[in-house]
Amino acid sequence: MKRIKAIYPGSFDPPTNGHLDLIARGSKIFDELVVALLRNPEKDPLFSLADRRKMLEAMTADFDNVSVDTFDGLTVDYALRVEARVILRGIRAISDYEYELQMALMNRKLQPGLETVFMMPAEKYSYLSSRLVREVAQLGGSINCLVPEIVGQKLREKIDVAHKFGASPAPSEAEAKTKKQKRRPK
Ligand code: PNS
Repeated sequence: MKRIKAIYPGSFDPPTNGHLDLIARGSKIFDELVVALLRNPEKDPLFSLADRRKMLEAMTADFDNVSVDTFDGLTVDYALRVEARVILRGIRAISDYEYELQMALMNRKLQPGLETVFMMPAEKYSYLSSRLVREVAQLGGSINCLVPEIVGQKLREKIDVAHKFGASPAPSEAEAKTKKQKRRPK
């Protein structure tokens, strides 16, 4: 029987319990699952790529068939490079569907041999997103039960630093670099 390798691509800024729930489900139905973290310098992430990778690796350490990797360029090209046949994506609510369908069909157009598989996280995570976690944490709300312990810890560290310096949370490596460049005299 053919072994099925899947990739689970995303920004994971930060990874949440919803992501972890999907990874757990994916690891049960695929022989191998690669959590593929997009290296996207155009986005302005809260966490550096290295931090996000560390958090994902810690969160998935107990799954034997799950690994973490980073990629840039097209997701379909990355999938081919690592010989995956499936792109796994999560759908929380109908509102996700339109964008996900568009992306899945574009990926199919680009690479007809790849299949996108949608899975639903547990209902209790259906309202959860990285964007809301960032916002709630930055504004002092509790993010307990929304993110794994390692992520909560990293978020608290960022926010403590921000409070200490009376500014927005400590910049990620990419942010800090851009800010430095902007300050450079002409
Ligand atoms: O976690 P996100 O931000 O919803 O993930 C989106 C992601 C990374 C899956 C998507 O932006 C993506 O695949 N980017 C890589 C570039 C690409 O392949 N673009 C065409 C998608 S149809």
